[in-house]
Amino acid sequence: MADIALAVIGGTGVYRLADLQNVETRVLDTRFGAPSGPIRIGTLEGRRVAFLARHGEGHSVPPHQVNYRANLQVLKDLGATRVLALNTVGGITDAYGPRVLACPDQLIDYTWGRISTICEEAGSDVLHVDFGDPYTHLLRRQVVDAARACGVELVDGGCYGATQGPRLETRAEIRRMRRDGCDLVGMTGMPEAGLAREMGLEYACLAIVANWAAGCGTDEEITMDEVLANVAAASAGIPALIAAVARG
Ligand code: HPA
Repeated sequence: MADIALAVIGGTGVYRLADLQNVETRVLDTRFGAPSGPIRIGTLEGRRVAFLARHGEGHSVPPHQVNYRANLQVLKDLGATRVLALNTVGGITDAYGPRVLACPDQLIDYTWGRISTICEEAGSDVLHVDFGDPYTHLLRRQVVDAARACGVELVDGGCYGATQGPRLETRAEIRRMRRDGCDLVGMTGMPEAGLAREMGLEYACLAIVANWAAGCGTDEEITMDEVLANVAAASAGIPALIAAVARG
């Protein structure tokens, strides 16, 4: 069986990968327990791609309860070396309004109480991985180049702030995040990125802006309907982009 060219973790509103052909479904366990759901492995323009829905295919797992270690481990066990994380986010700064796609290059972790390392197992080495650039340079470049080649508009760069959720943030929290330098806010960027680094996986984030974060852009209440409608609208170019990254 051909190697997996790319693994994709889908976020809120992205529970299947459109265009995946000849899909085989694998229900697997890992040394960290069960991942969020089955892995769908298929071909996209001739390359094998594995897909996993981070919150489960019925969106039943909240951000703070996702088994991030198991999700990455299962993809690694399947032979994936490159992971593209789709993350639904709120936009904070002007360039990151609803329906924008972005490939952030920095992040700040505001989450707490999540298992954020693979070093907790008895007998495991303590790792102090370099995390100055939390996303893999090469995979980020491939995402940015793929977007350009496919004619998909994408903002190259930005800082992702990872919050605990599942509630959305207060206006004051978002003001603080803006002062800290965050452009985007989401609930699932960490510990996933840090664990990917510890596991030696190439990892990049494709952020899908679903709404203005609290107090930004508009004063209207953020609803789940708005979030899902914007994710659906912004996702049109994503299968082609993923196919191009898989080829890269
Ligand atoms: N905040 C945090 N996470 C999110 C948001 C938000 O405004 N929108 C989508 N995911």
